[in-house]
Amino acid sequence: MADYTLSDYHERSKHRLNRYAPGPGRLDWANQPNPFRRYEGAMRIELPLLADDLETRYSALRRGTMPAPHAFDLDSVAILLELSLGISAWKAYGETSWALRCNPSSGNLHPTEGYLVTSGVAGLAAGVYHYLSCDHALERRGEWDRPVEFRGFLIGLASITWREAWKYGMRAFRYCQHDCGHAIAAVSYAASALGWRSRLLAAPGDAQIAALLGVDREAASAEAESPECLLWISAGGPSPAELPPAPSRWHGKANRLSSDHVEWTDIEQAHQLTGKQHLDHESADWTSRAHKAAGEPARELSAAQIFRQRRSAVAFDGSTSIGAEALFAMLDATLPRSGAPPWCAWPWAAEVHPAILIHRVDALDPGLYLLVRNPEALAPLRASLRHDWLWHKIGPPELPLYLLIAYDLRDSARLVCCHQDIAADSCYALGMLAHYEVAASDPWRYRALHWECGMLGQVLYLEAEAAGIRATGIGCFFDDEMHALLGLRGHAWQSLYHFTAGGAVDDARLTTLPPYPFARDA
Ligand SMILES: Cc1cc2nc3c(=O)[nH]c(=O)nc-3n(C[C@H](O)[C@H](O)[C@H](O)COP(=O)(O)O)c2cc1C
Repeated sequence: MADYTLSDYHERSKHRLNRYAPGPGRLDWANQPNPFRRYEGAMRIELPLLADDLETRYSALRRGTMPAPHAFDLDSVAILLELSLGISAWKAYGETSWALRCNPSSGNLHPTEGYLVTSGVAGLAAGVYHYLSCDHALERRGEWDRPVEFRGFLIGLASITWREAWKYGMRAFRYCQHDCGHAIAAVSYAASALGWRSRLLAAPGDAQIAALLGVDREAASAEAESPECLLWISAGGPSPAELPPAPSRWHGKANRLSSDHVEWTDIEQAHQLTGKQHLDHESADWTSRAHKAAGEPARELSAAQIFRQRRSAVAFDGSTSIGAEALFAMLDATLPRSGAPPWCAWPWAAEVHPAILIHRVDALDPGLYLLVRNPEALAPLRASLRHDWLWHKIGPPELPLYLLIAYDLRDSARLVCCHQDIAADSCYALGMLAHYEVAASDPWRYRALHWECGMLGQVLYLEAEAAGIRATGIGCFFDDEMHALLGLRGHAWQSLYHFTAGGAVDDARLTTLPPYPFARDA
């Protein structure tokens, strides 16, 4: 497969009306991956459960108003992890129970692992730690022989692709990248709620990240973790000129998650093709759009409550509608702004634009709309999409939202989203139209495009909760049916992730249990 290209992976992993992307065919329950990685033999630090004490309001965060920075100590780091990658509830049905987390995941399979790299957090020895969400504990993986000085700390993310591939086969690589994007945004929101600045580092390459987190060390006895990214968390000031060196001493052995595995050659190829090399420079802070408060959410809740009550709806009622102002406010929160999470953490220009199928928004015609998140994309998008779209500017002057056609698109939404009713019974469904062309010249950006989609999804999940409705990410969609609906020509743009929000219908058979059923003193 020497001449395998990124477009081979992308085309082969598309769901098509007459054939879903290759998958395992059946679920091999005996090999279901363990959702929790542990490093056996590593020293554990049990973290306090303090998120209830955090007073930051969600409405302040979305306006870009952050509290004074909390001290860099173990208690605050514990809150950051609890509110980003921590468990938010357990669900039970009969004898079966499963954990939900603040960050969502395709199929609730949770391929994303979180790490902390620190030398300056009070109450925590310098080192590299793995976060074990189910116990809300850190496992000390690495330490340095000599003192390492850097201000702030790093959150590292890595993906265990096997967890998604077990269920979804070839398309799993994409889902891991979406999930990573959700996790990036979840960390950025939680950091802002503590008054801290978060920034994804653009320069480090995969090899450097893997060496720092220690995910290049495990032998074939455990499932591989692919390095994804590092987020720099600080009280302000510039990103570090240099990363700390890789630790010199390592502890712990990764647990094996399944007794047997299926190899997906296309995923191997995708990993290799989208590998990231070290870049010479951090990217400039380009998100300079002035911050203007956009509407207030219907529910005035604490940020901690919104982060932890975020859930995916499994069904919508087909009747709830929202006001146009509420929709405009949600869409406004997706626009890149340097002051507000999660876009303060994103070092690249916006390359993803939601194509929205509006079903039930008061005073707005049902129809197809496009939100152009980067003004430079307007002309190329107009040139690539169907020529007779209306392009009527809708909503507040500063919101780059355009009506393309007024039409009832509920059936189309259901069809495009693999016949899922949630896409039709909601207030809106959308596809995230990404500037795929940037990955043609720089294939690693295929991953970054999916991360941006995941971040958009996280914003829309939280905005839905704040508006009193509920949302669901949609990874199962017929790619080219969406492109046909848009009248898309060429391959410069591709829809990479779908999403929907509306009035949720809960499954009354499920019971909800607290996230951490043990008491832990601060
Ligand atoms: C990338 C991604 C793709 C998803 N795709 C679908 C989907 O196609 N259909 C669906 O009903 N839910 C989908 N979900 C929702 C997940 O099933 C849900 O996040 C997971 O079960 C965890 O539940 P929670 O979001 O309530 O924490 C998706 C979520 C993510 C993050």
